[in-house]
Amino acid sequence: MTTGSDVPPLAPGKLPLIGHAAPLIKDRLAFVQSLRAHGPAVRVKVGPKTLTVINSTELIHKMLTSQSDEFTKGLLFEKLKLFGKDALPVAEGKPHLRRRRMMQPAFHREQIAGYVNTMRETVQPYIAAWDGGAPIDLKTEMQLMTQGVVMSALFSSTPRRAPAHQILNSVDTVFRTALQRALLPVSALERLPTRGNRKARAAGVALRSAVAEIIAEHRAHPDAYDDIVSLLLTARDETGATLPDDEILAEVTGLLAAGSETTAVVLAWLFHELGRNPELERQLHEEVDSVLAEGPLTAERVPRLVLTRRLVSETLRLYSPAWLVTRQAISDVRLGEFLLPAGSDVIWSAYAVHRDPALYPDPLRFDPDRWLPDRPQPPKGAFIPFGSGKRMCMGDAFAWTEATIITALVASRWRLRPTPGTVRPVGAITTHPSSLRMVPELRQHTLAGKAR
Ligand code: HEM
Repeated sequence: MTTGSDVPPLAPGKLPLIGHAAPLIKDRLAFVQSLRAHGPAVRVKVGPKTLTVINSTELIHKMLTSQSDEFTKGLLFEKLKLFGKDALPVAEGKPHLRRRRMMQPAFHREQIAGYVNTMRETVQPYIAAWDGGAPIDLKTEMQLMTQGVVMSALFSSTPRRAPAHQILNSVDTVFRTALQRALLPVSALERLPTRGNRKARAAGVALRSAVAEIIAEHRAHPDAYDDIVSLLLTARDETGATLPDDEILAEVTGLLAAGSETTAVVLAWLFHELGRNPELERQLHEEVDSVLAEGPLTAERVPRLVLTRRLVSETLRLYSPAWLVTRQAISDVRLGEFLLPAGSDVIWSAYAVHRDPALYPDPLRFDPDRWLPDRPQPPKGAFIPFGSGKRMCMGDAFAWTEATIITALVASRWRLRPTPGTVRPVGAITTHPSSLRMVPELRQHTLAGKAR
């Protein structure tokens, strides 16, 4: 039986017609964090839409694991079907499970070790091309690098700068549109021939045609490649069926989308924090110099970069890209003490959880040492940058390794100096810096010719 108290409370501050749209537009990140004050789950109104925000780590964990079959991925992912409707991040039910089983081997921890050399070789030219003293837009630079890394793992090609930029812009446009549409009160607006909608459609087409060419090339020369696309071309499900080209295409664009912007913003935030903390930067240089003194960064050497990894952990905590992830209740769902009626749109936010003072002491302080093994670790379910359960990020091990390698290689050569101005987190498809221009400065030992 349901009672009035089963339904999560409505957050205060709702205005007629627009509901909570005003604080959501003004500062989404501050708004999602403010909601924890209203209990483990709370409802907000955006125009005619009602969204239920789950604040409690225990309920988020249940929703993502033991009760995951009671939810679909929901609003945001529905809109991301612009990439193709069956790609892993947006597929549902049995097709999702089947696809995940087919693709997972490419992302196993042991497999990742095999990508280390490719990762290193892919990012080195980007890092070497910076001009000392000239400011760079760090988020874009990191996006180009992470996109290059995903591309080289996917289809053994390191993109030249111009086409890479084009793919990057297309992914950006599709992302921006998906987020706007998820928060848009009326779906009919999506179909209007507005400039924005036309641009989104064109971006989807451009992206697919760039990737289709690559797939055709792999089919034409199957022996020339040993990468994720070749794995997808030969992978079979339990019935023995292979994936048709359009589904491979959807997976490739899905991986490019899921795997480049996320890691890029984490790296941008990491260097932003280092730029403000010379002592940490000095410790990082010491670690990186000592590991690289023995030779190039290989899979055997990556685990020795322990401070580098703690820096990545702390950045994933404080600047979690996943500030808004959606779900939808398939039928009436009992989640803890709450009843979510069938069709309820639900949100969870790793960003908000990771900044909860009840879970992390002094949560706004960037402190990689909180991850030292002898320190108390966060409570269960409190560190969820990659989600949890059957929809947990498939690229988590890939992302850890990639972020560690890029941090170490940048730090081995450059110091990134801050430029004047405030850098604010912005909640878009990921949590990105409002603007982040930094000035690369060659490190002294590099000037002396000892760079690697
Ligand atoms: C720091 C970097 C990254 C972060 C923070 C991140 C975060 C996430 C999160 C939170 C989800 C789960 C969304 C949900 O529960 O609805 C997810 C899913 C996914 N991620 Fe990542 N991700 C990162 C990097 C990557 C990389 C590098 C790849 C691949 C190259 C990747 C591939 C995927 C895929 C395929 C899914 C969908 C899995 C499924 O639905 O079964 N991600 N990611």
